[in-house]
Amino acid sequence: MIDGKTRTCGLIGNPVEHTMSPLIHNMLAEKLDIPMVYVPFLVEEDLAKAIEGAWHLNLLGLNVTVPYKSQVMDSLVDCHELAAKIGAVNTLVRKEKGFKGYNTDISGLYRAMSSEGISIQGETVIVLGAGGAARAVAFLLASYGASQVYLLNRSLSKAQEVAREVNQAFEKECIQAMALTDYQRLPEEPMLCIQATSVGLAPQVDKAVIEEEDFYRRIHTGYDLIYRPSRTRFMQLVERCGGRAYHGLKMLLYQGVEAFELWNKVKIEEALALEIYERMKGEMGIEE
Ligand code: ATR
Repeated sequence: MIDGKTRTCGLIGNPVEHTMSPLIHNMLAEKLDIPMVYVPFLVEEDLAKAIEGAWHLNLLGLNVTVPYKSQVMDSLVDCHELAAKIGAVNTLVRKEKGFKGYNTDISGLYRAMSSEGISIQGETVIVLGAGGAARAVAFLLASYGASQVYLLNRSLSKAQEVAREVNQAFEKECIQAMALTDYQRLPEEPMLCIQATSVGLAPQVDKAVIEEEDFYRRIHTGYDLIYRPSRTRFMQLVERCGGRAYHGLKMLLYQGVEAFELWNKVKIEEALALEIYERMKGEMGIEE
């Protein structure tokens, strides 16, 4: 029931109509009896004016999606340290004089991996890709203490640029750039691998950036950031070589959960998060 005390949060981006975030937040608000609603806001032109207007309309918080995750940083009064390092913000939290930016895509990925029992601290990790998503993953791995990260990309120069940036930000040489075609130089013992390219995303469902089995034998756990489809070619190849494979829907769940927690100063229990997750899987037609 919306009344005079209801607070508004929402998603700004372009496009916004395929988002699952309203389902996550409105269900959390209802289950916890918190007077908050969450709506999509299509921003086509002036992002800075949209943010200013949102603050003046007393919005409690916003999520930010494509294409505004970097640009929005110009409209903030404050920014969480890791989000500032990454250079991407997906969550705005209302403060006294404007919004503070956070990156719950990354803390959400960490929480999603933790909830599956996947650890990062002290691990050797392979990351596929060097675009925006892979770059954020590299920052996450460095900040949570991975001992060695191999960043493999089609274009080596992009991987080198990301590696240089992350190593510089953390003042340690933990990221090593490689071309995808050089995967045979990777250590032979099984590792965690995070798939952060756009290859395999619907409708390109029959593709993975590396097809060879001797690459997949080096993976004990494969985590694909893609969740459409829910079983990517990468996941199939990991499983075929005996590894465990996960899709990115839990990352989507927990980026929302973490944003909701920031806005409402609550802690969401794992059981409630998993209840929301079941609804998300239902929406996606995922059965397992
Ligand atoms: P995002 O924001 O989702 O990370 P992006 O910044 O466009 O998207 O990055 C896309 C990633 O997928 C890049 O790592 C890209 O490799 P290049 O840097 O070499 O372009 C990778 N990618 C896209 N299509 C690919 C393909 N057909 N084969 C291999 N890698 C591909």
